[in-house]
Amino acid sequence: MSASTPANIANASSVSRDFLNLRKDFPILSTVMNGYPLVYLDNAATTQKPRVVIDALTNYYTTTNANIHRGVHQLSQNATEQYEAVRETVRAFINARQVSEIIFVRGATEGINLVAQSLGRIRLTPGDEVVITAMEHHSNIVPWQMVCAQHGARLRVAPMNDAGELLWDEYESLLNEKTKITAFTQISNALGTINPVERMVEAARKVGAITLVDGAQSAPHTSVDVQKMGCDFFVFSGHKIYAPTGIGVLYGRRELLEEMPPYQGGGDMISYVTFEKTAYNELPYKFEAGTPNIAGTIGLGAALNYVTAIGLDRIAAHESELLAYGTSRLQDIDGLTIIGTAAQKAGVLSFILKGVHPHDIGTIMDERGIAIRTGHHCAQPVMDRYEIPATARASLGLYNTKEEIDALAEGIRKVFEVFT
Ligand code: ALA
Repeated sequence: MSASTPANIANASSVSRDFLNLRKDFPILSTVMNGYPLVYLDNAATTQKPRVVIDALTNYYTTTNANIHRGVHQLSQNATEQYEAVRETVRAFINARQVSEIIFVRGATEGINLVAQSLGRIRLTPGDEVVITAMEHHSNIVPWQMVCAQHGARLRVAPMNDAGELLWDEYESLLNEKTKITAFTQISNALGTINPVERMVEAARKVGAITLVDGAQSAPHTSVDVQKMGCDFFVFSGHKIYAPTGIGVLYGRRELLEEMPPYQGGGDMISYVTFEKTAYNELPYKFEAGTPNIAGTIGLGAALNYVTAIGLDRIAAHESELLAYGTSRLQDIDGLTIIGTAAQKAGVLSFILKGVHPHDIGTIMDERGIAIRTGHHCAQPVMDRYEIPATARASLGLYNTKEEIDALAEGIRKVFEVFT
């Protein structure tokens, strides 16, 4: 068993038992919150960290801490080796062709901003169009609004139906020779909708558009193969996949990354500098200015090894079973409406309760040790589409159980008791 192998997966006899046993890997899950066992259902916001990730950080700072790519001393070489080894872990995790296609960034948001700003400079001219969808997180809206304004391009938005599914014909009809870039989420954080990304990439290719897939909510919950997907760019965040905050990944097709100018200037992204002229470093370093999040990267490597050892397909199956159970429990509650009922859906249960503001739901849940998110989920246009200010959202992770869904349903009944 490797250092990152989940403690209990090897000998467990059934999938659900395996997942129950995995809870022991996450120290925070034994917290007692307001007198109740913590029920953590805010995984779309951020996930809890297994011991192997926490240990990887402690171990790095205890034994290895040094700057990378800069020192001849042994510590620096060790740190560099560990950091670069994670690039290969990430490459294998998303099945990229080469490690040079893996850029470490702060998170999905920074990855999208990098592509928008850098690609925008070489691809967008007045009259061009960028196509997104109606279910995007603000991080896949605002960077495109900014870059469209800079270059005189137009942002177009493909609508969705009441279930929160992309309207395919409308999406396809927005794509034309003016479309230079199309960026879309694989899984909606507010609704749970799973988009048909391979088909979307194929349609975009036909008009010569470059594609970016926001994998912030998909990489933790389903296996990702960027070659099969065919996308030009894919981004995800470490903290949503059981790794630390402040580390994420931008995958980009090598030919495009070669063509793109650096996003930020500074140390490590150069091969030489004079006051007259600077030559940039080769990929991927051209896009990694300054000292990166070395410990976070090493933590990301541990997290990816951890979920890989469990198996993304098994995680997806477990969460899908929980989603089906949660949907049926919540549907039974009078006065509750689930927002986001796509046929293809991941582990997100967004809901509203008649006559109760979502923030009040969140507060009463918290009193019972249940952590959910309430608000617009950084997707205000989604809320506008449903003409609501906010939802309450329970989002699933690999350690959640049916008993926790029962606690959620019980908590909702309590909310009704208090407010009616
Ligand atoms: N994007 C994160 C969420 O959906 C923060 O909660």
